[in-house]
Amino acid sequence: MENIRRTSVADALSAKGENQVINVKGWVRSRRGNKNVNFIALNDGSTVNTIQIVVDLARFDETLIKSIATGACISAVGNLVESQGKGQSVEIQATDITVYGEADPLEYPLQKKGHTLEYLRTIAHLRPRTNTFGAVLRMRHHMAFAIHKFFNDRRFFYLHTPLITSSDAEGAGQMFQVTTLDLANAPKTDDGKIDYSQDFFGKSTRLTVSGQLEGELGALAIGQIYTFGPTFRAEESNTPRHLAEFWMIEPEMAFYDINDNMDLAEDFLKYLIRYALDNCQDDLRFLNDHWDNELITRLQSVVAENFARVTYTEGIKILEEAQANGVKFEFPVSWGTDLQSEHERFLVEQHFRRPVILTDYPKEIKAFYMKQNDDGKTVRAMDVLFPRIGEIIGGSEREADYDKLKTRIDQLGIPMKDMWWYLDTRRFGSAPHSGFGLGFERLLLFVTGMQNIRDVIPFPRTPKNAEF
Ligand code: 4AD
Ligand code: MG
Repeated sequence: MENIRRTSVADALSAKGENQVINVKGWVRSRRGNKNVNFIALNDGSTVNTIQIVVDLARFDETLIKSIATGACISAVGNLVESQGKGQSVEIQATDITVYGEADPLEYPLQKKGHTLEYLRTIAHLRPRTNTFGAVLRMRHHMAFAIHKFFNDRRFFYLHTPLITSSDAEGAGQMFQVTTLDLANAPKTDDGKIDYSQDFFGKSTRLTVSGQLEGELGALAIGQIYTFGPTFRAEESNTPRHLAEFWMIEPEMAFYDINDNMDLAEDFLKYLIRYALDNCQDDLRFLNDHWDNELITRLQSVVAENFARVTYTEGIKILEEAQANGVKFEFPVSWGTDLQSEHERFLVEQHFRRPVILTDYPKEIKAFYMKQNDDGKTVRAMDVLFPRIGEIIGGSEREADYDKLKTRIDQLGIPMKDMWWYLDTRRFGSAPHSGFGLGFERLLLFVTGMQNIRDVIPFPRTPKNAEF
């Protein structure tokens, strides 16, 4: 084979100067044709689109061409020319083809188009080769990149917080344990409990549910930081919106109050959605046409709207009125109850018809670190609620007052020995500060139009499922 540098399919398809010899490599989506000429649709993952390779059968060995089935990996050299056929602007007239890896048509699982998403989950090792997952994975990359760019452009610093921790940042007790002790023969203390002083870290440790507490330490030193990493929750929620391992972005800012925090959250989400509209056009068009034909208009409308900002108490009033007018919720609402996604979606999709930021939740249903309001009942929390998703962001202004924070920690029975370092920030140079957490996969659900969170992460971790 002639030794030419590989051109990506994306670059080949947008090449201006035609009539040049190029080399493309990728996976065969289909091969069809007649006894004189074959057409191979080749995809290399650089774009959702395929390039057509025209094969003049007289020039090639018959067994070589027969080995090029759907799923096979090939390298093709040829002249890039203006296409005669419909559906593509350029094509390659092959002069040389190498087969890197065959795919047996009787065994390769991705033969026909239109497999269900449920089936594709059972072959998560191969599903990136479908148009849908190629699009999702490319968009995942572009969103991750845009997140770093957004914060870097605003002088935020990327802080790496630990994944193994001995504190429960959300206080919800949904943590996976980390240990090197032998479960069957764990050493015991005199009172019969497991002796973690003999464990790897000399104490009991778990996988983190959030980097926030360490993020606060960063903000109270270098001003404004963000984290972006995996978080883990051992909650038994088997829903289309929950994962046991998900990625979270957590900005934390000194000198921000709750209003500054809301402004940042709204700017951030709009920036990311606009970035997707500007940089992922082919993938968005594909996802729009195949899975959700309102996707692009929904993204455009969220970028154009101001988010509604209302208190939890006002939100409950709206929901109670709706209930009184005959709207049926599976879980009835009243002041003090946590909102279910059906309630969040009612507020966003039926009532306000745009994203909603709900603030000032009852302190009993929110975490210990949130700033307490003067009413003694509510805290300065903010949840951003999105169409189709419900909660996409959770955050708050933080309690900066040492005594109030310590009293709350004591009331909730959070072991002080785990929290001394966190409280120290309120003893030494405490400052007003705020932050929030964006669930990366919830963002991806929104921008891709996928319905199930298992379809926006390469290898989902959910209850009873850790395959691949
Ligand atoms: O509301 P959460 O629990 O807030 C925190 O963890 C705070 N420490 C954030 C902060 O203030 N720095 O989680 C934040 C977001 C949610 O709004 C949701 O988007 C996502 O994380 N999330 C999940 N995503 C997928 N699967 C799960 N099990 C999730 N739990 C939360
Ligand atoms: Mg939350």
